[in-house]
Amino acid sequence: MSVSIKSAREIELMREAGKRLEYVHNKLGEIIKPGISTKDIDRYGEELIRGLGCIPNFLNYNGYPASICVSVNDEVVHGIPHKKHMIWEGDIVSLDAGLIYEGYHSDAARTHAVGQVSAEAQKLMDVTKGSFFRGLEFAKAGCHLHDISAAIGNYAESFGYGVVRDLVGHGIGTSLHEDPQIPNFPQKRRGIRLQPGMTLAIEPMINAGRPDVCWLDDDWTVVTEDESLSAHYENTVLITDGEPEILTLGTVFTP
Ligand code: MF3
Ligand code: CO
Repeated sequence: MSVSIKSAREIELMREAGKRLEYVHNKLGEIIKPGISTKDIDRYGEELIRGLGCIPNFLNYNGYPASICVSVNDEVVHGIPHKKHMIWEGDIVSLDAGLIYEGYHSDAARTHAVGQVSAEAQKLMDVTKGSFFRGLEFAKAGCHLHDISAAIGNYAESFGYGVVRDLVGHGIGTSLHEDPQIPNFPQKRRGIRLQPGMTLAIEPMINAGRPDVCWLDDDWTVVTEDESLSAHYENTVLITDGEPEILTLGTVFTP
């Protein structure tokens, strides 16, 4: 395993990639309304990414046929957008998006409520996002990778939720998926020591029910085996010599 350490110049490009992606997510959030199709979301996302002069990194990745992964309710991740798949009031919709800016990748996911959702759905979304921030407390030089994993998993499990084990977060940089893999549950070992200049996509995927998932016949869409709801929250994060810098949240970008 080799984990890349980004130079000052590379970090600057990662920041640029990150803030453009946050902008895309914010714009996508605005169109989440009952009656639009998952394909509409993908089309708009691709248009936004290309409009910024960036490249959608998911498109054709291992044959994935879209730019935005749209996963509704019991779909965990990697939902394939389709013009006949509408979203409706009460649904929760996870949008996973990524882009390449000047050769550098960013990757982030948000789960949105469509109109009014059940209290259980809202809590699942809140805890999933909260678990990311629990993990982030350990995204610091001197901490170990799996401190992040344990913090995420222990928090989510304290609510009785199922932490997805079959998919993990990852390093990111000149490739979408770099070393290391970042599980979202406690590991036997503490993992590598984190160093300034590492960039990590930390992405808890949390189920309201059991952790088990399965794949649909399209070979992409991951769903919960027990058909419980699932939420996803992800940011690209830079390890510094102080507090972590979230490259896809709280940035300012004007196109
Ligand atoms: N954020 C997703 C991940 O890290 C990217 C999905 S790749 C795609 O796994 F091909 F499904 F788009
Ligand atoms: Co990712």
